Amino acid sequence: MTQEQIRHPHFAKVYARFAPEMDKAGAAKHRAELLAGLSGRVIEVGAGTGLNFRHYPATVTGVVAVEPEPFLRDLAVKAAKDAPVPVEVVDGTAGALPSEDGEFDAVVASLMLCSVRDLPGALAEMRRVLRPGGELRFYEHVRSENAVAGSLQRALDVLWPHVAGGCHTSRDIATAIADAAFEMEECRRFKFRPSIFAAPVAPHIIGVARRPAH
Ligand SMILES: C[S@@+](CC[C@H](N)C(=O)[O-])C[C@H]1O[C@@H](n2cnc3c(N)ncnc32)[C@H](O)[C@@H]1O
Repeated sequence: MTQEQIRHPHFAKVYARFAPEMDKAGAAKHRAELLAGLSGRVIEVGAGTGLNFRHYPATVTGVVAVEPEPFLRDLAVKAAKDAPVPVEVVDGTAGALPSEDGEFDAVVASLMLCSVRDLPGALAEMRRVLRPGGELRFYEHVRSENAVAGSLQRALDVLWPHVAGGCHTSRDIATAIADAAFEMEECRRFKFRPSIFAAPVAPHIIGVARRPAH
């Protein structure tokens, strides 16, 4: 199978520049919440520059961080050196994770399910690599619950993915997770708008879904 190529050189540079500002504005706290209490072997998909790495608790024995975009992956390799737990950064995509069935105790998806081309396919892969009973930790921006705002997001999605590295503003990611045969355990909705430009992606969810044990 030919691996999907993810190359967003301009967006990657802009993201690498501004993501730390988003962290200062509050995203770092969300990342800590996302990863709190994790243990065992973890795969983080679409790890970007590795901004989550410093938040992994010591109970995590190792992280495989998958990042397909070369510029971001190089930065993630550097971030892995300072991580408090062992992190191995690898090339790969959500649609074909470089891992065995049931290999991990947890999968982490942060601000990336908006960007995958095939959302059900990515979630099916995440479920495949999780052991039965393993957990999916997610932190994502999503479609607004307000009908008018949701329609505006859908209209914006004609353009937005072309300037934002494939990101879509209007995905209903909580529903997609449930549709992918995960059991939703916790899903907190909140608004996070670190700058005026982030208004279309202000609605967020953070939480835990589980691959059923049987
Ligand atoms: C907005 S960035 C978020 C990066 C990081 N997860 C974070 O929380 O800062 C979106 C990330 O998704 C990655 N991505 C896009 N399509 C992907 C795919 N099909 N498989 C894996 N990662 C993908 C991008 O390369 C990028 O690193």
